Amino acid sequence: MSKPLIEDRTFLRHFWHPVCTRAELESANPSGLGPHAVELLGEQLVIANLNGEIVAMNDLCPHRHAALSKGRVNNGTLQCAYHGWQFDNGGNCVRIPACPEQPIPRRACTSSYDCVVKYDIVWVRLDSSWNCTDIPYFSEWDQPGMRHIVVPSYEWKTGAERRWENFTDLSHFAFVHPGTLYDPAYDRPPIPVVDRVDSELRFEIEPPPEMLENLPENAPLGSFTYRCTMPFSINLKLRLYRDDSVFTLWTTSCPVSDDRCRNFLIISREAKDNDPDHAHAAFQKIVLDEDQPIIESQRPKTITMEELSVTTDKVSNQYRKWLRELSLAATEGKEAFMRCLKTTVLEKSQ
Ligand code: FES
Ligand SMILES: [Fe+2]
Repeated sequence: MSKPLIEDRTFLRHFWHPVCTRAELESANPSGLGPHAVELLGEQLVIANLNGEIVAMNDLCPHRHAALSKGRVNNGTLQCAYHGWQFDNGGNCVRIPACPEQPIPRRACTSSYDCVVKYDIVWVRLDSSWNCTDIPYFSEWDQPGMRHIVVPSYEWKTGAERRWENFTDLSHFAFVHPGTLYDPAYDRPPIPVVDRVDSELRFEIEPPPEMLENLPENAPLGSFTYRCTMPFSINLKLRLYRDDSVFTLWTTSCPVSDDRCRNFLIISREAKDNDPDHAHAAFQKIVLDEDQPIIESQRPKTITMEELSVTTDKVSNQYRKWLRELSLAATEGKEAFMRCLKTTVLEKSQ
């Protein structure tokens, strides 16, 4: 029996996770307000816009346990489809249509969770008791002159940590993306300095500019700066060799369950004429389609301690080490968890 890298996954409940894009919530129902069913860390949640506030609740009506996501938003409340009980922003029942003159039972409520919208994505935090995590870093979102493409989210049948590793894996480019992202002649990857700063894993690489000649026009090639907010987000900022402009691939994953993840991608680049969104989105789709079957073939869907590492797996090794430390620190309590998450560890000073 293989030993999992992370034995206790409850620490993930303390982080903010993406659950859907704003557009997905708005298109879930003709009202534009939801409700929309999502899953996070194995929990079924319902997202809705109640009186202008985006809320996340347990997708379970306390009456006869129907899914609240089957209901509708009615007069600023979420109304269950089965018998019409209505719930406010905090998940408390405020009306029982069958017996409106009787007092509402105290237990007539469903759990609600921290929920915010940022980068046009809905974020949920299941456990706010330690309140020590932030929405992940995104370098370009508020920068003037940048143009963003929020790609529709997509699900992969693998754990979120395997998706993270795939996106930051420096030795797969030559084999999985020959001719799309990389020139296969350059199959020996750089081994970057990897630091921990501000809850982020940070590293930089400079792919060979000579590759430009053999790659398609939309292949983003330039100096790569990675700032990866733990546990599942990646801010990959490129300074393109082609014209020295900024191009950012920002991605994050929702740990839907141990063996499935929902992935989000925002492509940001300096606004220019004759640079249509669809061309960039289509190019990234080609890249994702090259990765997906390989990553979904990894067994098991969560990382195990038995996997073999070499020196060029340094980024993945550092990531695994930190994830495991976070998981263990969380079992000791808030202080140990915060220390593990926030302490700066610079490779040069070690
Ligand atoms: S099951 Fe929701 S109102 Fe009855
Ligand atoms: Fe890839």
